Amino acid sequence: MNKPNRADTLLYLDNVSVSFDGFKALNALSLFVQKGEMRAVIGPNGAGKTTMMDVITGKTRPDEGVVMFGTDTDLTKLDEPAIASLGIGRKFQKPTVFEPHTVWDNLLLALAGDRRPRFTLWARETSEEEDRIAAILETTRLTDHRHRRAGDLSHGQKQWLEIGMLLAQEPQLLLVDEPVAGMTDAETAQTAELLRDINRTRSVVVVEHDMDFVRALDVRVTVLHEGSVLSEGTIDHVSADPRVVEVYLGR
Ligand SMILES: Nc1ncnc2c1ncn2[C@@H]1O[C@H](COP(=O)(O)OP(=O)(O)O)[C@@H](O)[C@H]1O
Ligand SMILES: [Mg+2]
Repeated sequence: MNKPNRADTLLYLDNVSVSFDGFKALNALSLFVQKGEMRAVIGPNGAGKTTMMDVITGKTRPDEGVVMFGTDTDLTKLDEPAIASLGIGRKFQKPTVFEPHTVWDNLLLALAGDRRPRFTLWARETSEEEDRIAAILETTRLTDHRHRRAGDLSHGQKQWLEIGMLLAQEPQLLLVDEPVAGMTDAETAQTAELLRDINRTRSVVVVEHDMDFVRALDVRVTVLHEGSVLSEGTIDHVSADPRVVEVYLGR
């Protein structure tokens, strides 16, 4: 792929390599995400998908390569909290909601964030907080479940709550690693819709194995293999690419 115009690019990874004891988890990876885009990233286990997320969020430093957010922020120079506060939110595979608290209170705590501690849940939420929580509940399909303990939600609902807690931080870019693992088919379909809703106002990079889910997202797909891009394009384009069939789909 030709290198895009930097001005339109939100996330710019060029020639990025990461080695672990001589093994190249990322090998000259180049990937460009436009402002407002949602990108799906697929690829076999060990392809480097999670390592790519680790490089973007500052958890892992690349040995080589350019990692830029927007036109002039070099992510390789920043640590994880600094990158998070730029507006890059990351959802890990395992939900980390506060199980004893209600859905509502989880979102209220998330709104306060770590930078402005909300010392107590006893203080009533402001009407601005109420409106923001209501909007997040709507997006995450949890309005009817707002008074339930987070620990009593289904696995899928917990994942949505965690996405909601990230939305409370108003990220510009949301990174989601295997969101539908362990979900029912109905939850998987709803997660695709939910991410499409979120993508109306934010950029999203989603790593996922589930091909029905990726098809439902209906966005540009990047296939990673051995730490670099094997194929890129529509789901129909990459599914028909013989190299993709050989290393991934045909197994
Ligand atoms: N911290 C680490 N130390 C050593 N090897 C690692 C580390 N993180 C990832 N790897 C290796 O890098 C490769 C890519 O891993 P990963 O990015 O998790 O792949 P994916 O998410 O696509 O399954 C794998 O072979 C994995 O074992
Ligand atoms: Mg992974």
